[in-house]
Amino acid sequence: MTGPSVHRAGRPAATTDSAPAALLFVGASQVVTCVGPARARRGAEMGDAGVRTGAAVAVVGERIAAVGARVEMERAYPDARRVDCRGCVVAPGLVDSHTHAIFGRPRADEQELRAAGLDYMEIARRGGGIHASVRDLRSRGEDELFALAAARLRRLASYGTTTVEVKSGYGLTLEDELKSLRVIARLAEALPLRVVATWLGAHEVPLEHRGSPGGRAAYVALLIAEMLPRVAGEGLARFADVFCEPGVFSLDESRSILSASRAAGLGVKLHADELASSGGAELAAALAATSADHLAAVSDAGVAALARSPTVATLLPGTMMFLGKSRQAPARALVEAGAAIALASDFNPGTSPTVNFPLILTLGVSQLRLSVAEVIVAGTVNGAAALDLASSVGQLAPGFSADLALFEADDVRELPYWYGDRRCRGSWARGKACHPYELGVT
Ligand code: NIG
Ligand code: FE
Repeated sequence: MTGPSVHRAGRPAATTDSAPAALLFVGASQVVTCVGPARARRGAEMGDAGVRTGAAVAVVGERIAAVGARVEMERAYPDARRVDCRGCVVAPGLVDSHTHAIFGRPRADEQELRAAGLDYMEIARRGGGIHASVRDLRSRGEDELFALAAARLRRLASYGTTTVEVKSGYGLTLEDELKSLRVIARLAEALPLRVVATWLGAHEVPLEHRGSPGGRAAYVALLIAEMLPRVAGEGLARFADVFCEPGVFSLDESRSILSASRAAGLGVKLHADELASSGGAELAAALAATSADHLAAVSDAGVAALARSPTVATLLPGTMMFLGKSRQAPARALVEAGAAIALASDFNPGTSPTVNFPLILTLGVSQLRLSVAEVIVAGTVNGAAALDLASSVGQLAPGFSADLALFEADDVRELPYWYGDRRCRGSWARGKACHPYELGVT
């Protein structure tokens, strides 16, 4: 297997301005379709990733046109350009529905501090953690942040991710949050992968507001009365998110911020029960949030509440691993209760500095005890659902966005198996090359 190549079929393509170009993906070892209902898969539904052999995928313009037996597809699309997948697995492009990719310097110093026994919250109390990234981001200009993030997202795309959610949250002033969101908007324009923006002004109470007795309340008021109207008014975010955790934002504060955000037209997400169980999952379910994320410390009541709600439970096993915790979210209990699980990288400078989504799939199997089909669904269809995109993203099925990734593997089970390796050999988002570096184009 030497990587895919693209060439035109025997006759010249009948492409005109009115007929968008067709691409036919042939020669895959397996085609992972994830075909099924255009919504989050829940419970036992997650056990089927729709794997086919001998199949080809036709793309016309920005959409999947058909998936079928190779001979039939070659007959139906004789003029299509062909992508010879050379025995790779073809899958829906991965959907990373939770990242904090707008930051400056890496926080490599904190990893050693944790190894020496200081925990994450203690580092934050001493002015490190999120506060360290806030000081750093405030000192940098928009162009510099754009260049840093663009390079990091290109790396992320090189592992097979074709849709990425990116949060603000290291600015924590009106201007610095708007600056971060403008960087995200520029990334969405400049990069081939799909970028979804989330406003996380409620990532932390900034140090300048922590000192005085009325400081926290003043910051929550600033979020709701000043930042939110600008963020929503300028169309800079699709979602709002809050870090709901003891010592950060309380349940009441989180409810107020998210209710106001929804009223302003944003979808809502919640960092819930990451390090301690505080009712975050129950709040996300009560609000019918699009997703509740982290959940490593979710209670049994929180699991039951998520199972009854439309909220996607987004699990971030890389974070717990990188923080050196032995605890992980109760993924099996969530699936068995009938919840919908997504997996995401949580790419950020403090708790999960990885751009490697297939590694997260590995942790999904090895640490969360999910099956291969479950982690694939969690990283495609359900990731899309966690961004309210399940009607158009996450499946290789007619009408869906032509987001595909090719992985050097004979079998889909090798995606989580070769852990840490970069097996992605090419990807397309909306029918256009997203990670083309290893395509042999002929
Ligand atoms: O998702 N939990 C809050 N936010 C990030 C960590 C951010 C940081 O440490 O910089 C997370 O883990
Ligand atoms: Fe996070």
